[in-house]
Amino acid sequence: MNSYKIALIKGDGIGPEIIEEAVKVLDAVAACEGFDLEYTELLMGGSAYDITGDPLPDETIEVSMNSDAVLFGAIGGEKWDKLPREKRPESGLLRFRKALGVYSNLRPAIVYDELINASSLKPEIVKGVDLMVVRELIGGIYFGEPKGREGDRAFNTMVYTRDEVVRIAHSAFKIAMERSRRVVSIDKANVLDVSQLWREVVEEVALEYPEVMLTHMYVDNAAMQLIRNPKQFDVMLTGNIFGDILSDEASMLSGSIGLLPSASVGNKIGVYEPIHGSAPDIAGQGIANPIATISSASMMLRYAFGEVVAADRIDNAIKQALAEGYRTKDISQFDAVELCSTNEMGSIIANYAAKCKR
Ligand code: IPM
Ligand code: MG
Repeated sequence: MNSYKIALIKGDGIGPEIIEEAVKVLDAVAACEGFDLEYTELLMGGSAYDITGDPLPDETIEVSMNSDAVLFGAIGGEKWDKLPREKRPESGLLRFRKALGVYSNLRPAIVYDELINASSLKPEIVKGVDLMVVRELIGGIYFGEPKGREGDRAFNTMVYTRDEVVRIAHSAFKIAMERSRRVVSIDKANVLDVSQLWREVVEEVALEYPEVMLTHMYVDNAAMQLIRNPKQFDVMLTGNIFGDILSDEASMLSGSIGLLPSASVGNKIGVYEPIHGSAPDIAGQGIANPIATISSASMMLRYAFGEVVAADRIDNAIKQALAEGYRTKDISQFDAVELCSTNEMGSIIANYAAKCKR
């Protein structure tokens, strides 16, 4: 029997609730498909700081590196906002990404037909949207030196090296080859030197993928085009901060940020996580949408373990739950629906996924 080791990081806020539902669904499909999942719970974020004084204990890195994949919930919250930067939950996450070398963050934005009315945009604009933001994750202004604060002056540095751009560009072109073979590279080359290098290198890498059509777009225009006509996009290749912003924007096409998963991959272990944050304002109320995390678990099965049938089961189960009218609060306002809690949504999806229908 195939067996996979999963590092499980629940984190803060709604993290524990949504991870619990993803585990429920994973266990259901594992039983159906006959593989074994072994979880090790690890600490990160504010909850790790509260217990160990460090938002990223060494053990979390070590055990994660010796796992087959990491499933991650969310971190952060007001409670830890006043801490010095390196003690903050977000610093733990950034150090974690860097330590694992997960440079390529894949953030698909798809619009479920069943939720077409949940989007704040007109149905004809969003129907059929299926795009992928490929975001560079361990470089750019998030990590550039120097950074710091000197009294009333504070600074960060946006840096990319040729090698960093080469590897993320390959990642985007490879994904485009599996999709509609179109890449739009996002930059601010009319202003930033770093973007000029970015554009130059992306064009060089593109020569190795003659079947993929490459275009460039300034980030401000891309933000506008995403809501004007999102269907023009297939793969959007971005640096770290542009991808952070545009992926939140893209998520709204689907109706709720609670729906969209992500995979962060590099040379070895991948991290699978919802794109949303820890939402401390709704934590513990049982109203968080677990679909983004369940969908991230499906990406983990597909990309990290090659368990494609099990992943299909989960994706189909999510669609079925939505088609049957089940809705968590965030996606409930526009349709006549069956309002359900975090826990109920997880159970419904787990049941459908386990029906052994492929
Ligand atoms: C994300 C989040 C993180 C980021 C934060 C929590 C550090 O917004 O994964 O998009 O900016 O990368
Ligand atoms: Mg973000």
